[in-house]
Amino acid sequence: MSVLSGKKIILGISGGIAAYKTASFVRLLIKAGAQVQVIMSPASCDFITPLTLATLSKRPVYTQFEKDFGEWTNHVELGLWADLMIMAPATANTLAKMANGLCDNLLLATYLSAKCPVFFAPAMDLDMFAHPSTTENTRKLKSYGNIEIESAYGELASGLIGQGRMAEPEDILQTITDFFNNQSTLDLKGKKVVITAGPTYEPIDPVRFIGNHSTGKMGFDIANEAAKRGAEVVLITGPTYLKSINSSVKVVSVSTANQMYKQCHELFSSAHIVIGAAAVADYRPKVVADQKIKKNDEEFTIVLEKNPDILASLGEIKAHQFLVGFALETENEIEYAKNKLKKKNLDLIVLNSLNDTGAGFGKPTNKVTFIDNDFNVFPQELKSKEAVAKDIIDQIVKSYAK
Ligand code: PMT
Repeated sequence: MSVLSGKKIILGISGGIAAYKTASFVRLLIKAGAQVQVIMSPASCDFITPLTLATLSKRPVYTQFEKDFGEWTNHVELGLWADLMIMAPATANTLAKMANGLCDNLLLATYLSAKCPVFFAPAMDLDMFAHPSTTENTRKLKSYGNIEIESAYGELASGLIGQGRMAEPEDILQTITDFFNNQSTLDLKGKKVVITAGPTYEPIDPVRFIGNHSTGKMGFDIANEAAKRGAEVVLITGPTYLKSINSSVKVVSVSTANQMYKQCHELFSSAHIVIGAAAVADYRPKVVADQKIKKNDEEFTIVLEKNPDILASLGEIKAHQFLVGFALETENEIEYAKNKLKKKNLDLIVLNSLNDTGAGFGKPTNKVTFIDNDFNVFPQELKSKEAVAKDIIDQIVKSYAK
């Protein structure tokens, strides 16, 4: 049985072409057993008819105050009735009104009255999406606790290609299913989790750097998992192309090990759990050239100096914090990982070995071994990085509870 069975869901539709997708979304919700109340902005009725949605949702569809209710207060009741409200599509106009408390139709009045979690799935043309006012309105909405279901990149109704396509009904369904599933496992609620991810880039000159193959995926997946389980998450990431991150995660972008060190120390006193998944460069060029270095001699030497060890420095000042490190090894894996656990004063270390096929950098999978601070060793299977992230959080929760 789906977790959506019996859930009361308000689907708020505003006036954009993506409104046509709501027919299949309503069908998916009804098939999952949800009770669906559709509320449409007047403009959305030009894109899909209330009759279609009433037929699919098996309920009358509301569009206006007096016409549908005969009185004006029922938006308050609707707002109290729902377990979840979702605005899909959320046009630039509706987003702006939601962000600023405007209330010139029944849909917006219900949104302002809603006591339940509110999701919104933006849908608009790429330039409208990229406009600073839309970005600001989205930020504002998220700061009020609303949850964005990110729009996709692709061909838009205008024929242009860019970001702004409403997420597909199946993906929206998955997001809210995950939400309800996770409501029962919010075991990190009230905890602040700081996670590092990605490589660091140590500059040689304005165009070159010393880096490594980390993509950031392992750290991003851990951040997503911790956020799903109710934590307040800050992700400090080195350079990466990854974008997909739970909208509640605060992302701090850095480049060098020194910058990552500074951010970690700024956040450490308020953190409950710190997880170091970043591949931090141990050394950096001692001198960074102001201009691009020209090729002259047959050989060229770069003198390196040591970077601070971020986790070790946190281990030294650790009070209540639970400190988790990774170990990326190529030989004597267990022994080296145990040494790092002890030397850096960690509570748990996650070992991944480049000798294991499918483990380590860049890949969508990882194979890890947990070692706790009693030196108990728990080898795990090869899994997707998302599944490994879940195992890591499970292990932390178990150890943290002790
Ligand atoms: O990003 P992906 O492509 O998904 O790849 C994931 C990963 C392989 C990078 C990740 O799973 C991983 O193993 N990260 C740690 C890599 C690493 O630098 O390991 P290490 O054994 O050199 O460092 C041990 C620990 O100390 C790590 O937690 C590291 O973040 C930390 N460290 C290292 C050096 C340093 N100067 N400061 C640190 O805090």
